[in-house]
Amino acid sequence: MSLTESFEARLIEGIQPLRQYVLSINIYHLFETGLFDLLLAEGGLAIEAIAERKAMEPDRLRVFLGYLRNEGYLSEVDGKFSLADKARKIEEFRPWYTMFVGGYDETYMQIGEKLSRGSGWASRNLAQVGNGSCGISRHDAIPLTRKLMAKVPGRCTRLLDMGCGNGRYLVEFCEALPEIQQAWGVEPSAESCREAEQMIARHGLQDRVHIVNASAGAFLHAPSSFEPDFVVLGFVLHEILGQEGPAGVRAFLTQMVERFPHLHLIIIEVDQQLDSPQLMQHGLGLAYYNPYYLAHPFTQQRLETPSFWEGVFAECDLEVVAKEFTDPEVDSTGMEVGYLLRKRGS
Ligand SMILES: C[S@@+](CC[C@H](N)C(=O)[O-])C[C@H]1O[C@@H](n2cnc3c(N)ncnc32)[C@H](O)[C@@H]1O
Repeated sequence: MSLTESFEARLIEGIQPLRQYVLSINIYHLFETGLFDLLLAEGGLAIEAIAERKAMEPDRLRVFLGYLRNEGYLSEVDGKFSLADKARKIEEFRPWYTMFVGGYDETYMQIGEKLSRGSGWASRNLAQVGNGSCGISRHDAIPLTRKLMAKVPGRCTRLLDMGCGNGRYLVEFCEALPEIQQAWGVEPSAESCREAEQMIARHGLQDRVHIVNASAGAFLHAPSSFEPDFVVLGFVLHEILGQEGPAGVRAFLTQMVERFPHLHLIIIEVDQQLDSPQLMQHGLGLAYYNPYYLAHPFTQQRLETPSFWEGVFAECDLEVVAKEFTDPEVDSTGMEVGYLLRKRGS
């Protein structure tokens, strides 16, 4: 920046992060309030009509819609608001807003305070994290899980999804694989469990899918008649690692295959590469992984590298049957890794 630039020019540049910050929050609100869906379904609507349909305050709504119009996400013609192309184009990325704004916004606000020694964990909205994560997983981890499952064709008849969030995996797998007779989801967030039950009902899968409100460890130690042949842990082992440490993860994995010796495990994790200059030069490195990495150590989660996880698997006598990465069309960083495991010699 040149020293001769005016204060105003420097100010405009200096506060661009503020503009993006407020914008990301209000794109989230556009989705969460249902205004996006209403405008998508109805096309152009006047403020009064929108306010009536959504039971909103017209004066506030006018400013909210005007703000998004000024940022290019809405169009206004003859007093009627509709979605601009810019808004339609981001619809498929809604889960990223759900996870980062709905789930971790409060975490980011606590970072200053939680840097202090002994300050404890920052909070997050677990249901929004699970919901957003499951939505993102439709593009990356669910196809990756299917690729790993296909290595053992026809074998998945009883699926257990630990840390199932809003139940998205259970629905996708039951719909895609008729050989799945029973699918159980285990999830510690009561709100996520309610969302999962609603999603399962919407898809008419109540006879095949069952949700348990518990942590993975509590589920494993409770009596149950369900004998899974596949368990999926999508971005959950790093939660257990943060909560219980490496010894807790080893105990969990070991007890799981002791209880279900013929089990296949699918584990999806994110490589911890915060200090990699190559990753941070990648578009997704700064747009996604950098803020993603930031939230974890503040919320009792511990991301690790593939070599760390492979060491844990070896210590637990788990054999890596296959190792795969997310489709590079979706994410070419190679940061998302999936393992198919089973007890050695089983
Ligand atoms: C990042 S989300 C992943 C959701 C989904 N599995 C996916 O792949 O998108 C992590 C999920 O793990 C859940 N979770 C956290 N601690 C857990 C534990 N100890 N046992 C089981 N699930 C846990 C969270 O509530 C959340 O739904």
